Amino acid sequence: ARTYDFVIAANRLPVDRIVHDDGSVEWQTSPGGLVTAMESVMRGREAAWVGWSGQPDEAPEPFLDNDLLLVPVPLSADEVAAYYEGQSNDSLWPIYHDVIVPATFKRRWAAAYEKVNRRFAQQCAEVAAPGATVWVHDYQLQLVPRMLRVLRPDVRIGWFNHIPFPPVELFAQLPMRHAILNGLLGADFLGFQRPADAENFLRACRRLLGARTKGDVVDVPETDRRVRAAAVPISIDAGGLAELAESEPVRQRAKEIREQLGNPRTILLGVDRLDYTKGIRHRMKAFGELLDDGRLSADDTMLVQVASPSRERVAAYRELRHQVERTVGNINGAHSPLGSTAVSYLHRSFPREEMAALYRAADVMLVTPLRDGMNLVAKEYVTCHEGPGALVLSEFTGAANELRQAFRCNPHDIEALKNTIMAAIEAPAAERNRRMRALHRQVTRNDVQHWAGKYLDALEHAPEKPPAP
Ligand code: G6P
Repeated sequence: ARTYDFVIAANRLPVDRIVHDDGSVEWQTSPGGLVTAMESVMRGREAAWVGWSGQPDEAPEPFLDNDLLLVPVPLSADEVAAYYEGQSNDSLWPIYHDVIVPATFKRRWAAAYEKVNRRFAQQCAEVAAPGATVWVHDYQLQLVPRMLRVLRPDVRIGWFNHIPFPPVELFAQLPMRHAILNGLLGADFLGFQRPADAENFLRACRRLLGARTKGDVVDVPETDRRVRAAAVPISIDAGGLAELAESEPVRQRAKEIREQLGNPRTILLGVDRLDYTKGIRHRMKAFGELLDDGRLSADDTMLVQVASPSRERVAAYRELRHQVERTVGNINGAHSPLGSTAVSYLHRSFPREEMAALYRAADVMLVTPLRDGMNLVAKEYVTCHEGPGALVLSEFTGAANELRQAFRCNPHDIEALKNTIMAAIEAPAAERNRRMRALHRQVTRNDVQHWAGKYLDALEHAPEKPPAP
């Protein structure tokens, strides 16, 4: 079989296989920021992408999507439950996001995680050409770098973490903490969203492995290898998205959306996967209280909340959905005018065009996570919006490091969040224009192509080159 000089490994393929009730099959863009970013980096490249199809118990053959070879990694239903829903999303995800909900640890989840990581490593080893670059992504595949190095010492291995890396005090709770650190240290270069994430990783290596570090380089214990860990913040395809947002159909649709919503004076917008890290409840609480207090009126202000379904088989996500839906019901019950709603709640996902139109139509974007690796929605809004918009942005996102002209908030402080939302709504048009122009420039200059270039350059110049093939 053909091998590739460039290989991506991520838990999900860029497309999900959807099987309809009548048995027909369709491939849809996968959810989440990782795919949003990587899909545009990989478009038009000759490479292989190793990942899961999103369905249990399936082993579709590798297939070409333009120049990209998609290599499905099969997962049994038990593996989906233990490796993906369990270890990845019920152990690691909460620990890596400040234990906003408690983490659950199970030995059989950890065992399944190891088994599935090994399958990914084997699949990468098979499809990588001699001396290839293999770029591994995110928290689901942290054991892959080391496993792959054992199988293929000739390849160059990078890993990038799309989510935060936790402080050692939290990381140390993980029963598989040593395996994870050693797994990651199999790479040549480790990329993180913020300098603080890279520092957390370096500190964990010192404290838990007794490793020596110098600057951002770790000496891998018991080897002569060195690994660099540094921040390379991810971004979006700003050019492509701006072009879409400026296209005539999207402009037209943005106008239509405002009319469809009854031409309110102010449209507030939230766009998130329905995840407890996103601070959706805090946002709702603040909005509800602003209506209760009479500082806002549902006669001229509306909150549109797009909440795309996510990980619905994990209990914490089901619970969150109930809470959010109950709160939306309460706010609408108390405040919606006849024939309209205070909160327009949409529990589904929409095509890119519709999202671009929504961003264009919204006066104030509310991005209020309690913890978020980056948050690409913030970057999408400032790329699409034209005129005096405003971005309310939580300081607990990676994006807050870069988007300095946003209206910054601490979502835990509901009173302050309310005041920040009001400040964003009431700021003079000239100020909102000035801030939005600066934000737009920031994202345009630091787009995803720029990110990929920087990352791959760092990987290429990583401290120690593997032996020549
Ligand atoms: C985040 C993670 C990704 C993940 C995405 C969607 O962006 O960093 O790795 O793919 O969420 O979550 P899901 O569990 O549906 O893949």
